[in-house]
Amino acid sequence: MKLDHIETPAALIDVARMQKNIARMQGQMNTLGVAFRPHVKTTKCIDVVRAQIAAGARGITVSTLKEAEAFFAAGVADILYAVSMVPAKLPRALALRRQGCDLKLVVDNPGAASAIAAFGDQHGETFEVWIEVDTDGHRSGITPEQDTLLVVARILHENGVKVGGVMTHAGSSYELNTPEALAALAEQERAGCVRAAQRLREAGIACPAVSVGSTPTALAAAQLDGVTEVRAGVYVLFDLVMHNVGVCALDDIALSVLATVIGHQADKGWAILDAGWMALSRDRGTSKQAHDFGYGLPCLLNGTPLAGYVVSGANQEHGILSSATPETESGAGFADDITQRFPLGMKLRILPNHACATGAQFPEYHAVAPDGASVEWRRFHGW
Ligand SMILES: Cc1ncc(COP(=O)(O)O)c(C=O)c1O
Repeated sequence: MKLDHIETPAALIDVARMQKNIARMQGQMNTLGVAFRPHVKTTKCIDVVRAQIAAGARGITVSTLKEAEAFFAAGVADILYAVSMVPAKLPRALALRRQGCDLKLVVDNPGAASAIAAFGDQHGETFEVWIEVDTDGHRSGITPEQDTLLVVARILHENGVKVGGVMTHAGSSYELNTPEALAALAEQERAGCVRAAQRLREAGIACPAVSVGSTPTALAAAQLDGVTEVRAGVYVLFDLVMHNVGVCALDDIALSVLATVIGHQADKGWAILDAGWMALSRDRGTSKQAHDFGYGLPCLLNGTPLAGYVVSGANQEHGILSSATPETESGAGFADDITQRFPLGMKLRILPNHACATGAQFPEYHAVAPDGASVEWRRFHGW
């Protein structure tokens, strides 16, 4: 199907850009000599993940058991569930392992470690657990020097659970925007995770996997000595937040929302779109960054960004396209401009702030080939 015939709003993946992003990240991992385990929560789409695996990815990272179940059913067996395990979800994890899924769980506290050990004992299952390490204060995890690290490791090790490794996610990288700061955080992430692994080994507990990653730190890392694998997710599509962080160009962004102009408020300098926050998502991630892109950056159908414009507002099914700097526009002239430049029925592509959030608004992507032809790629929802 050609772009002109796709009903709007719709989520488009530019396949050539996606393939370029996949090759770039895999190339960086090959150069650094580490395995790559993409985080599939960004797309939740088997077609995308097949392309990542074809390029050399080994295993996947998931953020929900639903992802683990769906990707295992699609033939991917090596899965890291990288969100702290809660005891109530253990029966689903057990079911996956019993079907042959090499599912690895994550914990960062003694309570969860004990619950996994007890549940495994009760059901005769040897779970594999990785310990989450906090290397930047971003979210969860145990800091490398904390006593709790060894407490958790011993609970697992001494109660029939395999300690498979340590993992960390330096998500504070999203707040940075210089190559120097990103490289420094990548090194902090690496060193902290390697140190946690060293402490486990010194305590007599094997720690085969040392897993780090966020898109900015993965791309900024100069060396990853002691690390066995990297995880990254959003790099596959990129978005405006990543552009502001400085790790991609605008024309690397592979996800866009196809939208149609449905009206105008000429006196206000607005063109109204049929893509509101239900399509674009409410994610305003660029609002705290150096360049605020509102709800997204409009582009022509051929992908050319309209740098002077922005989706400045969003209701559920209405988007408001206006000048990026309305106060500098002269009222009447600008009103003419908006109606002439964006006539009723015109189609635009909106680059998203956050690819994971925008993709999640849609049941499928339209994967667009360089000749403009597209096919549907399903994605799934829920937990
Ligand atoms: C545990 C974990 N690992 C890896 C990632 C990948 O990060 P990014 O999307 O920046 O590549 C995330 C993202 O939130 C994560 O939560």
